[in-house]
Amino acid sequence: MGNRLAGKVAVVTGGNQGIGRAIAERLAEEDCVVAVGDLLQGRADATNAGKLSFLVLDVTDEASIRAFVDQVLERFGRIDILVNNAGMVIHKSIDDQTAEDWDRLMAVNLRGPFLMAKYVVPEMRRAGSGAIVNIGSVEGYMVNPWHTAYAATKAGVHGLTLGLSVDLGPDGIRCNTVCPGWIDTDLNRAYVEMHPDRKLIERELSYLHPAGRIGAPKEIANAVLWLVSEESSFVSGEMISVDGARTKKIPLPAILDEEYRSKLTETSV
Ligand SMILES: NC(=O)c1ccc[n+]([C@@H]2O[C@H](COP(=O)([O-])OP(=O)(O)OC[C@H]3O[C@@H](n4cnc5c(N)ncnc54)[C@H](O)[C@@H]3O)[C@@H](O)[C@H]2O)c1
Repeated sequence: MGNRLAGKVAVVTGGNQGIGRAIAERLAEEDCVVAVGDLLQGRADATNAGKLSFLVLDVTDEASIRAFVDQVLERFGRIDILVNNAGMVIHKSIDDQTAEDWDRLMAVNLRGPFLMAKYVVPEMRRAGSGAIVNIGSVEGYMVNPWHTAYAATKAGVHGLTLGLSVDLGPDGIRCNTVCPGWIDTDLNRAYVEMHPDRKLIERELSYLHPAGRIGAPKEIANAVLWLVSEESSFVSGEMISVDGARTKKIPLPAILDEEYRSKLTETSV
């Protein structure tokens, strides 16, 4: 599609599917060499064969991160871009949530991005520039019921972003976070499918978004592309929501919101 990232090497964690996959493909479309790290070795499809490399990575395991970074450097010689996307959610009340659940979420969603940055930053410093994009969440600001631990990890990711932008700014390294709203991936499809009337849930979800619909992985990927490109060269330490304005609308009782809802039904795609 373009060559905005020609000559650059990017690492995308959790890029076998969902948002991470869309990010990896979008960066590759701009002529970037992309190394995807995920729990299992992923596979390219016919359209992106040769553009993406798939390596095994467990972001909860420091030794695995070191081995992954070494492999990327051995193969491609540099790392200019880090996208910390790997993440998971556990949907449980505080009564059901165990300390192990809490530790697992923290290890994947927050400790992982910290360790990835720790091992990639020396390479960026050597080059005198770099861009880190974390995938946070609107749940770093607001929270769905039974997501206490998940929201804590994402608020932590937002704090990590602030810290890295300050500490690494003098090295020419920028760090930002994209906060997705409701995006159609496996992660929350399971959540929708818990309800017997899937169509009803999909309609209700659309009503929550002034844009009249939920988002697609590619819409997150486009925001990430901007944040790793030169076009955002003075942007660092920001949390950018990509959520169809969901977090900007103050909820009203459904009965008072009817006129607005009917407008969304007319305009939604
Ligand atoms: N889908 C949404 O609506 C939404 C909203 C806000 C934030 N997010 C965030 O976006 C990111 C991607 O979510 P998604 O919806 O694409 O999820 P997904 O479940 O479809 O994909 C997550 C990927 O991360 C990988 N992964 C999980 N644990 C890992 C580990 N320890 N090491 C390496 N890889 C690991 C998985 O194998 C998978 O490929 C996550 O950080 C998630 O919290 C998603």
